Amino acid sequence: MASPLVQVVDIPQHGDARGQLAVVELGGVLPFVVRRVYWIHGTKPGVKRGFHAHKKLRQLCVCVAGSVRLSLFDGRREESVVLDSSDKGLLVGAGLWREMHDFSPDCVLMIFADAEYDEADYIRDREEFIRHVAG
Ligand code: TYD
Repeated sequence: MASPLVQVVDIPQHGDARGQLAVVELGGVLPFVVRRVYWIHGTKPGVKRGFHAHKKLRQLCVCVAGSVRLSLFDGRREESVVLDSSDKGLLVGAGLWREMHDFSPDCVLMIFADAEYDEADYIRDREEFIRHVAG
């Protein structure tokens, strides 16, 4: 059976009577060294984002507040997942077309990436992406 596109990891929690504390670290849920962190927030109603793939970049997406639906497409199959808890992370490997939908107004989506921003690593055309994964 084909491996699932959606790979959700449990983020260790160290909450106590004072409140919550969550950790992502190398050797824990992170399978790569982080070279960049960015976050998407203040997303306007009805906005959809993403609509691109990366040739090499690997990412871990954590919705630290609110909720968002992410869909992943490998050129043949599409799977989607709702991230609505800061104790779950979505690992997104290279070569996957991703879209983000249904942002809640309070959504803060934090993304840990294994490389600095590089526009040359993006594929922003879906047909080009399908050709890319086909061969
Ligand atoms: P982009 O990755 O295209 O986001 P989305 O697919 O959700 O629209 O990024 C939007 C803009 O921000 C684009 O002009 C590139 C810029 N950007 C950076 O300069 N550095 C970064 O690390 C990221 C993620 C984006």
